Amino acid sequence: MKIALVVGARPNFMKVAPVLTALRKDRGVDALLIHTGQHYDDNMSDVFFRELGLPDPDAHLGVGSGSHAQQTARLLCEIETMLLRERPELVVVAGDVNSTLAAALVATKMLIPVAHIEAGLRSHDWTMPEEVNRVLTDRMSRLLFTPSRDADANLLKEGIDPRRIHFTGNAMIDTLNALLPAARGSRVRERLGLAGAKYALVTAHRPSNVDEAGSLRELIDALAQVSTRLPVIFPVHPRTRARLAADDRSREELTHARDLRLIEPVGYVDFLSLMSSATVVLTDSGGIQEETTALGVPCLTLRENTERPITIERGTNVLVGSDPKRIVSEVDAVLRGDAKRGSLPELWDGHAGDRIARAVVELCRTPGE
Ligand code: UD1
Ligand code: UDP
Repeated sequence: MKIALVVGARPNFMKVAPVLTALRKDRGVDALLIHTGQHYDDNMSDVFFRELGLPDPDAHLGVGSGSHAQQTARLLCEIETMLLRERPELVVVAGDVNSTLAAALVATKMLIPVAHIEAGLRSHDWTMPEEVNRVLTDRMSRLLFTPSRDADANLLKEGIDPRRIHFTGNAMIDTLNALLPAARGSRVRERLGLAGAKYALVTAHRPSNVDEAGSLRELIDALAQVSTRLPVIFPVHPRTRARLAADDRSREELTHARDLRLIEPVGYVDFLSLMSSATVVLTDSGGIQEETTALGVPCLTLRENTERPITIERGTNVLVGSDPKRIVSEVDAVLRGDAKRGSLPELWDGHAGDRIARAVVELCRTPGE
């Protein structure tokens, strides 16, 4: 039984690792790992293979960066060549990046069933490239693995056959639980001079926050104000790094901030260590909204909407948008001890990978069902 798992960008690795591990325990399964190469810097890709114990990919497609059309076109061609050669019985994709959509589209046209890890999330914001990727991938998927009940409801509303929907929980949290002991041994806070200190941890890479100079300056302004309250550690995503390099005024603003430290993206173990000891996390990342909820760490999401409402209803997440005043006042609330406490959502229990792998194998054994 040959199953191909396709990964490409940073957040894919954490979601696919537990499923691959579970599939590889089954002797009857030949699980192929295909890396599209959408992300390729060592600190955006290889470091996660090393730290998450992922095997070297069976194929690396080297697709790289480009406009949406260029990148997606290259993804389609390279994935098709690979699937024609390997002829898997099923293709597993995760999340909402361009590699996800491309792999689902190629497989669907080749009549290969698709399984989608993290199906059903909706921001209802069609200006987000990820929302387009999610909706289209779900429409094509034969198996839809949802991380929360709201995702089931979204899919049912869109007319997806309920027999395809499997509420299996959050695979990212499997990886988080597995790597927490290693994170406790990380020395990253000592290296940054933060041991025992209060600090804010920041990530930002959404096009709506960083692509346009005005939004980027507003973000830097907000972070500079936060840094008058506590040190701010900001591992900078390569998209954001490129936008900062192109905008003199944002860089100028950075030099006036009291304690705003821009660093390179860090590996998963160090990031988990920074996240779990942070006083507050400010982010526009999807995955980090979930990880902070799992860790019980206050999260301020720098967006107007989220496809992960469970992190607000049950978790520690607050949507704060992009207004510097609002952001600073929410940080002040956390510093006063008024942060949300939150609890762990249903089935974020570290066993989602096993549940997903079981359903995948079952479908391959009974394809007509
Ligand atoms: C992609 C996903 C986004 C996800 C994010 C996770 C899409 C449409 N977007 O956004 O949903 O949240 O990954 O991090 O799939 N670059 C490098 N080195 C790398 C990778 C990228 O320098 O290893 C730079 C390039 O200049 C590139 C830019 O980052 O043009 C953007 O990369 P891309 O993969 O197109 O989108 P992301 O912003 O990373
Ligand atoms: N992450 C990391 N190092 C960093 C920033 C993020 O390991 O410097 C991890 C984070 O813990 C989470 C994942 O990367 O597991 C989230 O990826 P990202 O924010 O790039 O994508 P999104 O979730 O927004 O799609």
